[in-house]
Amino acid sequence: MIYLDYAATTPIDPSVLNVWVRTEQEQFANANSSHILGQRAWTFLQTQLSQMAELLHVQKDNLILCSSATEANNTILKGLALKYPHKKHIITSMIEHASLIGAVSALEAQGYDVDFVETTNDGLFDLNHLKSLLREDTLLVSLIAVNSETGILQPLDAIASLCRNAKIFFHSDVTQAMGKVPIDLNTLDFASCSAHKIYGPKGIGLLYRREDLSFIPLLHGGHSLSPYRSSTPQTALIAAFVRALELSMIHQKERFDKISKLKTYLIDKLNAMPRVRINSNAYSLPHIVNISILKTRPDKGIDYFSSYDICLSSKSACCGQDEYSASVYAITKDMERAQSSYRISLSHLTTLDELDALVEAIERMPYED
Ligand SMILES: Cc1ncc(COP(=O)(O)O)c(C=O)c1O
Repeated sequence: MIYLDYAATTPIDPSVLNVWVRTEQEQFANANSSHILGQRAWTFLQTQLSQMAELLHVQKDNLILCSSATEANNTILKGLALKYPHKKHIITSMIEHASLIGAVSALEAQGYDVDFVETTNDGLFDLNHLKSLLREDTLLVSLIAVNSETGILQPLDAIASLCRNAKIFFHSDVTQAMGKVPIDLNTLDFASCSAHKIYGPKGIGLLYRREDLSFIPLLHGGHSLSPYRSSTPQTALIAAFVRALELSMIHQKERFDKISKLKTYLIDKLNAMPRVRINSNAYSLPHIVNISILKTRPDKGIDYFSSYDICLSSKSACCGQDEYSASVYAITKDMERAQSSYRISLSHLTTLDELDALVEAIERMPYED
């Protein structure tokens, strides 16, 4: 099996799995319990949170552990909306992840005004346009750090300083950036990410909150790790997340370099294929290579690649004929390319043989009408 869908999720690292299993066995007590085992789990968790804070160069208080980036995205949008009911305007973009767009749409259905920041020809957010959209009643600006389809990395610092000067909250979904490139969370007001994109387990995510900012929690309940998210702390998942984060930081540069070489190898081969267009650009992280294979349809294409035991993705596995990738359209302004795009996502685990097999499969790909 050839797995080239690491942007969708990653296989758990064996040492992360080991930490997860061991912690589940050794620290099974409810960390909210006041008995001795509960206290031990609590103390253990505090150590884990301190380590996570250290890895991210933030404070423990900044960290709100939750189930996923989807939960983090929903929590911050809806939580701020509840806290500031008079602010009825949201600024985001058309190239956000579905979990962000879904939360924005839910608020729009309740009467919120939503504006979408345009992107330049390079796929970067147009900061002048963003500036022109800011309003007195803007609740927040939420813009993704790395687009999950094209891999384009946005200038977060510039966006953050623009929002700070305007005194408007800035949230960024950093799920595809975390662990892959250095991200300074301290420049942001809020950020979301997820462990399973960095060789950690599924079911654990993080909402970063600047310490002087607050919102109304979505999950109320008893006292827990953070007043912003009740429930029994997921001790083992948190420990596994910390280990995954640690590995992603330790190996960040070496993995980035290795993946960059893999990308160059792949792009060289793809460039020689007349039906292929490369959609990722100079701003894209090496982990994501977005291409269009002209005269193919991604819904059938994914099945075709599966028949060669190759797993990759398009905009979505169930992308209908009339659908297109808004992220690819944003950079190419070409509907044919946006309707025939595929995302190949690479890892330090990827081999040249796997890429050769992919290229061969693309060469043999049948034409669709
Ligand atoms: C940019 C981005 N945000 C959010 C998510 C959702 O993450 P999770 O699976 O943790 O809900 C993903 C994963 O698909 C993503 O790529």
